[in-house]
Amino acid sequence: MKKLLIKLFSKAGYQIINKSKINFSVSNFQYELITTYANYAPWLQDAAFQNTYSRIKDNTLVDLYRCYELWELTGEIHALNNSVSFLEVGVWKGGTAGIISKRLALLNSAAPFYLADTFTGIVKASEKDDFYNGGEHADTTFETVETLMKDMYGNYKILTGIFPNETAHHIDHNEKFGLCHIDVDVYQSAKDIVDWIWDRLIIGGMIIFDDYGFHTTTGVTIYVNEMKNMSDRVVIYNLNGHAIIIKIK
Ligand SMILES: C[S@@+](CC[C@H](N)C(=O)[O-])C[C@H]1O[C@@H](n2cnc3c(N)ncnc32)[C@H](O)[C@@H]1O
Repeated sequence: MKKLLIKLFSKAGYQIINKSKINFSVSNFQYELITTYANYAPWLQDAAFQNTYSRIKDNTLVDLYRCYELWELTGEIHALNNSVSFLEVGVWKGGTAGIISKRLALLNSAAPFYLADTFTGIVKASEKDDFYNGGEHADTTFETVETLMKDMYGNYKILTGIFPNETAHHIDHNEKFGLCHIDVDVYQSAKDIVDWIWDRLIIGGMIIFDDYGFHTTTGVTIYVNEMKNMSDRVVIYNLNGHAIIIKIK
């Protein structure tokens, strides 16, 4: 009977969700499936975004909403300063890097974009990370990313190895950054990247954490929460899962 009802509702275009089954805790954090009443959906009218998303969607673990936010914030940073550099750490098969790249290309930007990945998976997992041990997401290659990027943007550089420890020396000491997308899943990697970029980030520049709002990436939630109430930054939890840090001084 239950199955029949679910099937009937689904055919009629409704989705039945049992909220009691998706309300739980991990470590000290509470979780439930977030559904909001907002319904303004500009991505549906944005042909360039739709084309780009369909090109990269098989190369990403990131959903359409977070991809659209990266697309939009790339435009915002370009408008703020059209020569500052961009950095993504945690590229995997290149999907989110493709989104940022294509937006830069369509804005006729020539800003340097650095794409950092170990290509051997997650590193620096610790007791703060409930679901990661190290080595996850190793199912990608430099060539996979290079193939995607060739169609997307001219001024990119792929950095292979642990960032910042093994690869940050490839970036000029004085280079300034406008946007840093961090998608590394664990506490210590996330912290080391922020420690490296903070003094290089312009005022108004942003750090976007892919992993803040998910029970599988508790270390990143712990780390972002440590930054709350610091006077030099604003921390925003966008309910799509992103945390956005804006440097204000
Ligand atoms: C979840 S995946 C990234 C997903 C990707 N942004 C997408 O579009 O689906 C996480 C990636 O982070 C990389 N990674 C984790 N810590 C790193 C570090 N400190 N330096 C470089 N790469 C790192 C892993 O190798 C892995 O490919």
